[in-house]
Amino acid sequence: MNLKVRAIVFHTHGVPEEVARWEETDAPAPTADEVRVRLLAAPINPADLNVIEGKYPIRPALPGVPGVEGLGVVENVGLAVKSVRSGDRVLLPHGYGTWREAGVVKAGSVWPVPEGIATEQAAMLRINPATALRMLRDFVALQAGEWVLQNAANSAVGRAVIQIARASGWRTVNVVRRPELVEELKAAGADVVLVEGDDLPAQITAATGGAAVRLALNAVGGDSALRLAKALAPGGTIVTYGAMSRQPLRIPNGLLIFQDIRWRGFWISQWYREAAAASIGAMFAELFDLARRGLLHAPVERIYPLAEVAAALAHAAQARRSGKILFGGETWFSAQ
Ligand SMILES: NC(=O)c1ccc[n+]([C@@H]2O[C@H](COP(=O)([O-])OP(=O)(O)OC[C@H]3O[C@@H](n4cnc5c(N)ncnc54)[C@H](OP(=O)(O)O)[C@@H]3O)[C@@H](O)[C@H]2O)c1
Repeated sequence: MNLKVRAIVFHTHGVPEEVARWEETDAPAPTADEVRVRLLAAPINPADLNVIEGKYPIRPALPGVPGVEGLGVVENVGLAVKSVRSGDRVLLPHGYGTWREAGVVKAGSVWPVPEGIATEQAAMLRINPATALRMLRDFVALQAGEWVLQNAANSAVGRAVIQIARASGWRTVNVVRRPELVEELKAAGADVVLVEGDDLPAQITAATGGAAVRLALNAVGGDSALRLAKALAPGGTIVTYGAMSRQPLRIPNGLLIFQDIRWRGFWISQWYREAAAASIGAMFAELFDLARRGLLHAPVERIYPLAEVAAALAHAAQARRSGKILFGGETWFSAQ
């Protein structure tokens, strides 16, 4: 039986809170290999805003439903489905368009989430902690006790880097643009927290005792990225995964010629496209385990009902937040 459900829909690209609307859509009955899933929670990530703005490599056909990640509860399964059951909590497929009350997806594209992980934390595992884990593992084979540098350390990715590095025995130098975050991030497990400024490379050298640092993670771009690169040891790698300042990278010739700094990029969407199912499963198992043990946790500033789309999107676009903005499904609110 077809259900009428409501979803956040954008018909044109533009300012997110102006073009995204709360509308009625269809959620058909699942066919044999499909499941119908009701939304529990879904975060608003910077990439979601960029998708609506039309400034992201993923451009859903219009009208589109935004939301790259989220958590749902299975409410109806097709006749041939054995992998999940009604009532299971599942990660929704990457890039599905999660900001809807309910929808139908292939059973093989959802991922069951074990008990013991809070709904809103599980809803945020697929993108940011996965990005942090891959960047820490896939570029440099870090030894116990090695240092990792990062900017935007207060972001959800940045906090996941701090937590995963700590759980793995690596140390972090974290760069923020607001001094009031220094103590908070130290309490969250950061070894060193520094504030953006021209003397950052010298401060990093002092904080690490001149250690040879081989990996830096950059989500800001511009001068901030350059400062991280200058603090790396010869042959070190800087991985760019975001551009929050919207400033381009400036790469001095000398850093390439005399220091052989390696400038790399990372995009989790591409990783999911190329990874074998077994690698994705192994990574989720690790993230679920860290989350269940309380070692992976992202602060939440506010959870909005889907119907309050304009307020939620405007809030998510604000700088200096204390945590993520999410949408909660009706089921999430009724459980509170
Ligand atoms: N490539 C990938 O696969 C991938 C995956 C996940 C995320 N990302 C990217 O990673 C970045 C962080 O995402 P998130 O979801 O973790 O972010 P988030 O939790 O929403 O936090 C945004 C962060 O960006 C900082 N920021 C905002 N504007 C800035 C500016 N002009 N200069 C310096 N810092 C600024 C904020 O600092 P304040 O706290 O001071 O406001 C905050 O720490 C985004 O660019 C996102 O697109 C990329």
